[in-house]
Amino acid sequence: MRAVVCKELGGPDSVELSERELGDLSADRVRVRVHAAGVNFVDGLFVAGEYQIRPELPFVPGSELAGTVSEVGSSVTGWEVGDRVMASVGLGAFASEVDLSPAQLLATPDTISDTQAATLGQSYATAWFSLTRRTTVQSGEWIVVLGASGGVGLAVLDVARALGLNTIAAASSQERLELCIRRGAHEVVDYSGEDLKTRVREITDGGADLAIDPVGGERTEQALRSLGDFGRLLVIGFASGEIPRIPTNQVLLRNRSVLGVDWGIWALTNPTLNGELMAELVAAISAGQITPVEPETRPLEQAGSAMRDLLEHRVVGKLALIS
Ligand SMILES: NC(=O)c1ccc[n+]([C@@H]2O[C@H](COP(=O)([O-])OP(=O)(O)OC[C@H]3O[C@@H](n4cnc5c(N)ncnc54)[C@H](OP(=O)(O)O)[C@@H]3O)[C@@H](O)[C@H]2O)c1
Repeated sequence: MRAVVCKELGGPDSVELSERELGDLSADRVRVRVHAAGVNFVDGLFVAGEYQIRPELPFVPGSELAGTVSEVGSSVTGWEVGDRVMASVGLGAFASEVDLSPAQLLATPDTISDTQAATLGQSYATAWFSLTRRTTVQSGEWIVVLGASGGVGLAVLDVARALGLNTIAAASSQERLELCIRRGAHEVVDYSGEDLKTRVREITDGGADLAIDPVGGERTEQALRSLGDFGRLLVIGFASGEIPRIPTNQVLLRNRSVLGVDWGIWALTNPTLNGELMAELVAAISAGQITPVEPETRPLEQAGSAMRDLLEHRVVGKLALIS
């Protein structure tokens, strides 16, 4: 099988494609022929050594995948050769074949392709966790989504719309906003030219109820100031590379809240609760309530440049590697 290997930390260019032997399948594992692996911002952070967890070297990056079961360990029940599956694996997805624990597998809903399935785990789980576990939302509330054409942003737009929210997609170019409109955003703000706070207050007639921030930097304070009474700012990440400081008087004013979101660590430490969350997500996809975006695809050997393009702000929408 083929795998993308990171032998030293240093960024996306330090990975290389190599041939590896998987060996005999353990009795308690399932072998999956990987068709697609999602590329996420965090994968680039891992190989750059900039993530809060530093894996032992060498390692295979890639946090999520979709494919078909190719072999089933002798003590495993519930899975059969040929089953379509998807999995969030943390590391190891950038490979043509992987051995996984049955507990890691989810049946891929018939309503979506392998490329959609490979790119939804992290972004949709984060969106679902944010809007159903870190806060509660009510139909008709206004949500402003920063970095709305990115992975987390697009997922939040979709989940928020399904939960009955009115969505404002905020992004840094018209091209990015056009994708958000195609994905059903009710309103858009180009924050490269427009003042986010002013536009959001105009659109919402006073201030948004929620803001989702996977971007950080100068956008965070603008988003906080765009909130109305009892507004909630959910801090997701810092794709801009800058962790902002915010004036706490802006939290006090209008009784706002700032909420941290860390789905990844929560999922690792609460596997049963995360299983329930993923089951809700899969049910919503199967029922057609949410529909993950179809990603741009590249061959597995382009893993390095794919991660680099994501980290360097050149990707609009989602990316998947095909093997
Ligand atoms: N807390 C959690 O549980 C959790 C879960 C998943 C991801 N995250 C984090 O959330 C952040 C976003 O992840 P994502 O998957 O949405 O990433 P993504 O697909 O690359 O999107 C990030 C967005 O950030 C904006 N951005 C601004 N400056 C950027 C820069 N210098 N480079 C790249 N993007 C820039 C871009 O939108 P505009 O140009 O329109 O501003 C872009 O669309 C990452 O930091 C990731 O680690 C956190």
